[in-house]
Amino acid sequence: MVKDTYNTSSPLVILAVESSCDETSAAISKNGRVLSNIVATQAVHENYGGVVPELASRAHQQNIVPVVHQALREANITKTMLNAVAYTQGPGLLGALLVGSSFVKSLSWGLNIPLISVNHMQAHILAHFIDEPRPKFPFLCLTVSGGHTQLVVVHDYLDMEIIGETLDDAVGEAFDKIAKLLGLPYPGGPYLDKLASQGNPSRFPFPISSMPALDFSFSGVKTAVLYFLRGQLKQHESFIEENLIDLCASVQATLISMLLEKLEIAAHQIGVREIAIAGGVSANSGLRSQLEKLAQTNQWNVYIPKIEYCTDNAAMIAIAAHYQYLAGQTDTLTASPNPRMKFGRK
Ligand code: KG4
Ligand code: ZN
Repeated sequence: MVKDTYNTSSPLVILAVESSCDETSAAISKNGRVLSNIVATQAVHENYGGVVPELASRAHQQNIVPVVHQALREANITKTMLNAVAYTQGPGLLGALLVGSSFVKSLSWGLNIPLISVNHMQAHILAHFIDEPRPKFPFLCLTVSGGHTQLVVVHDYLDMEIIGETLDDAVGEAFDKIAKLLGLPYPGGPYLDKLASQGNPSRFPFPISSMPALDFSFSGVKTAVLYFLRGQLKQHESFIEENLIDLCASVQATLISMLLEKLEIAAHQIGVREIAIAGGVSANSGLRSQLEKLAQTNQWNVYIPKIEYCTDNAAMIAIAAHYQYLAGQTDTLTASPNPRMKFGRK
């Protein structure tokens, strides 16, 4: 078990960088408390309806120095006060990860301080330890992002077990792809969420793909929506515009019920009542409110991150790095990004 306090007279100050996808972010933590968290979101991808890896790498190159400077400035920390530097090793886009890892490795070398390689998905879960209240171990976390959908039993800060995951699209990907079919800008998840709040969630019942055990599948819903829209548009070309809010509400309700169904089964199977959600899709207002309702029925304690810690940010990388440092998990300068990095018990 990792001790959660830093028991020496000198503080532990960490600079962390996140660059796995389309956010360039830097954060400073001191003794496990976040002092600053700067996020530069790359607007360039909006024109293409999705993240363009090459453009993401270039934008990281342009953003990384100003973002790191701002994180240091806001935290009132100078480079010489740092005790360790951390970066996202994976999963993510290789070119994007390379920018963060090269930058942070050079700092580690130049300042002669330890390097910490962090798993992005594990960090999403550890975002729950940035603020209070904190979940108690063991807890169950539903991690929902643009690239992953996972049910994870969290035994300790760095001891996690994946018990279910998507076999095809991630739920964030499903939100974004369906939003695109509905003509919404990229990334579509937040736009769809906003419109859904005004619509009728039972107007268009879309089929739910059922998967064995605790795994998920979201590509079937996307295809069902695609064929449904094609059929309707043949008869009525302004079908989407005229029914947009109800379409958004119905799609959102379908995706949320698929997530919560498995979360409830998993919680009963494992016998835990400490339940958390994490990752970009945990910003979804429908998911947040439905989870609160389910918590009342099941007498769960639920932990829902602040919006700024749901989507990609370096604060979560700093917190993960803090616990890794305490556990002695530092890396060498030959460490390199791993776009398909895994985590958890084998
Ligand atoms: O965790 P994240 O920022 O990046 C990855 O690690 O993938 O998650 C991004 C995903 C995108 O698919 C985005 O559309 C989705 O999170 N997302 C949302 C909302 N906010 C972000 N999906 C639904 N409703 C939201 N409010
Ligand atoms: Zn993420």
